[in-house]
Amino acid sequence: MFRVIIAQTGQTFRIFSPVSGVQELRNFITKLFFFAVGHDFVIKIGMESINSLNIGSLPGIIFGAGKFSELPKIIPLYGQHALIFIGGESLKKSGRWNTLAPQLERAQIKYHAVSVWEEPATDAIDAIALGFRKTPIDVVVAIGGGSVMDFGKAVSAMLAAEGSVKDYLEGVGIRKPTGAKVPFIAVPTTAGTGSEATNNAVVCDRKEGYKKSLRHKAYTPDIALVDPELTLSLPRHITMACGLDAVAQLIEAYTSTQADPAVDALVLKALADASESLLPLVHGNSHNIALRTKMSSAALVSGIALTRSGLGVVHGIAGPLGGLCPVPHGIACGKLLFPAMTFVIKKIFDEKNIAAQKRFAEIGKVLAGTDPGHDDISNCKQFLDVLDRWTRAFKIPPLSRFGMTAQHMEKTMDLADSKNSPAALSREEVKVVLEVVR
Ligand SMILES: [Fe+2]
Repeated sequence: MFRVIIAQTGQTFRIFSPVSGVQELRNFITKLFFFAVGHDFVIKIGMESINSLNIGSLPGIIFGAGKFSELPKIIPLYGQHALIFIGGESLKKSGRWNTLAPQLERAQIKYHAVSVWEEPATDAIDAIALGFRKTPIDVVVAIGGGSVMDFGKAVSAMLAAEGSVKDYLEGVGIRKPTGAKVPFIAVPTTAGTGSEATNNAVVCDRKEGYKKSLRHKAYTPDIALVDPELTLSLPRHITMACGLDAVAQLIEAYTSTQADPAVDALVLKALADASESLLPLVHGNSHNIALRTKMSSAALVSGIALTRSGLGVVHGIAGPLGGLCPVPHGIACGKLLFPAMTFVIKKIFDEKNIAAQKRFAEIGKVLAGTDPGHDDISNCKQFLDVLDRWTRAFKIPPLSRFGMTAQHMEKTMDLADSKNSPAALSREEVKVVLEVVR
């Protein structure tokens, strides 16, 4: 049993078994809002002000259907020697590699192609960086999903560094990245992680059981070449997992304590785009280029936003969990969103955090596609309702299906971090969330 006390009233609600956790959370939030509306819970409306404006740390963005064909013209801007990472077989199966390779040769680009099948792991990055340090490489290109882009990003950095990537990982190594690197071009073939616009590569070490970031503002890709046509053939489950990751990133960046007003309008537009496109793409409309374009744009913006504003509790739980067991990152984020955000919303009302309430209310309006002119409390409820509806509509599987065990949950509770969430979750609250998604 888990007990929640509303600070203002001392009223206690109990959340019982893991099995009925979602229903209990839903009941709880219904009670909370009923109580709040009935007792004029929100006492004042605050206004946010812009205190700073920073529009640095962006890649050069080339976006649009068909833009992939420009890659052979972009690579020579950096030199004639390229190291190209591609993901598995999909680029070859689609025939795009067979088109690209002769174009590169005609442009007199000498390239080494490396196929990446797995998540970027410390030993693999070290081996590739060591293998190519003495080879002239003018530019690193990564064409693939988040793992491939992070692989390329990490190698582009380690080609210009000494030692192991472990030495430079946040929370692991003792050396600080200098920012030196080989120029890097990111070409996403999925719409999700936003790695094409972020300043970090997420690197795992399965032996040690962690996922950590290699981060420096200079690691933001020099070019993000985003062609939504590359995502047209993505299977349903990849479209869903990547899309939910982008949605979680947008929500967490927009509501972060470090939220950057410079990108607010972009983020809300991206959430509207994701909300309009993700369900139809997953449910049969996968070849619609207009919908794919919206999702690619949303993912790109999620990367821009998270780099500036950071993330929240969903990623603070999904990160360590993903280092401990092979739960797909997007699935973990999508599954965690509703229960984790339910706690966050409860807490920002408990703590009378008006600025955060307004931000979640804005998202509630955007995701629901309606602005009924209600107060923030109703729109926050609308936000949770949409997340709940999506969790059921996408039929996101329980995380135990991907190998999450009680031991993984216990360790995740120790490692979880609320990051830049406007409300921190306690260990007990993380436990309830994990039991709900189990
Ligand atoms: Fe993510």
